Amino acid sequence: MSKVTVIGAGNVGATVAYSVAMKDIVKEVVIVDIKEGIAEGKALDMWETSAIDGFNTRVIGSTNDYSKTKGSDVVVITSGIPRKPGMSRDDLITTNAKIVNQVTKKAIEASPNAIIIIVSNPLDVMTYAAYKSAGINSNKVFGMAGILDTARYRAFLADEMGTSPKDIQALLMGGHGDTMVPLPRYTKVNGIPITQYISDERLDEIVTRTKKGGGEIVGLMGTSAWYAPGAAAAQMVEAIIKDEKRTFPVCAFLTGQYGLENIYLGVPVILGKNGIEKIIELDLNEQETKDLKTSADAVKNVMGVFDDLKII
Ligand code: NAI
Ligand code: 2OP
Repeated sequence: MSKVTVIGAGNVGATVAYSVAMKDIVKEVVIVDIKEGIAEGKALDMWETSAIDGFNTRVIGSTNDYSKTKGSDVVVITSGIPRKPGMSRDDLITTNAKIVNQVTKKAIEASPNAIIIIVSNPLDVMTYAAYKSAGINSNKVFGMAGILDTARYRAFLADEMGTSPKDIQALLMGGHGDTMVPLPRYTKVNGIPITQYISDERLDEIVTRTKKGGGEIVGLMGTSAWYAPGAAAAQMVEAIIKDEKRTFPVCAFLTGQYGLENIYLGVPVILGKNGIEKIIELDLNEQETKDLKTSADAVKNVMGVFDDLKII
């Protein structure tokens, strides 16, 4: 009898809502947007697929009326502007910080026990902004990036090796930006180390493509991706709703793990009904630790820009 709210009925928000509905794991999905009628229209269109796709989840839309979201178990925040060609995720901060702050407050007021998943960019800092705005424990406020970034990495590896992406297990840490840290040492094909399949040189090229994966799509479409981001956020919702205790890379608040504190950064966690149930601390080697620190420094820089905005 669970309920999920998705804030933002744009490309990513609509895809999250539809992916969750198709999984048929919750009673209701509520989509909220500020643009009059857009959430209602998309929700109705989705609900009209239920007889074809065979799900019972009732999808409803609302123009900025948070009373409809009351009692949600999970809230996914996708509202905000996306990147255009030539922009980095960090360029979005001024606009998106205000939006994330405002919608988080309204969402948590309507659903004080909700778990909040942030998708809006710049992801790591917007997750921090939502945490500050929500005033709830950090195990219940976290961001989606790592599942998307590892999915891209796994898709590129599958193409390279002519194998199923389902058989590739991979891990990626750090911020959702060009400094993210894919970890070839933790990349396996059903247990077989990836390094036994492809050369170091080719693997380096795939790692570089992964780091620029978001930009590759922006270059092609003039706006950022939504299918893989939507599917990734829906997978997190499913892990929480079904209390699956799945291990995923998630943008989590660090309190000393990996020698880092007071920062949101991508790390492996266990996701279940309580949100982040555990942050897993891996034994990173010297280079991996250095790369993670570089990524954390990049996120800290953007946090500084956020702090200077004095929104919260
Ligand atoms: P979009 O422009 O298609 O949709 C954004 C929606 O948010 C619009 O419908 C807009 O009306 C709505 N919105 C704006 N202010 C609002 C408010 N105060 N309350 C409710 N709704 C509001 O953008 P898209 O492509 O869906 O991307 C959304 C965000 O997700 C962007 O910031 C983008 O950069 C980010 N993103 C993050 C990814 C990640 O891996 N974390 C992946 C892909 C996108
Ligand atoms: C992506 O990685 C832009 O964050 C968005 O597709």
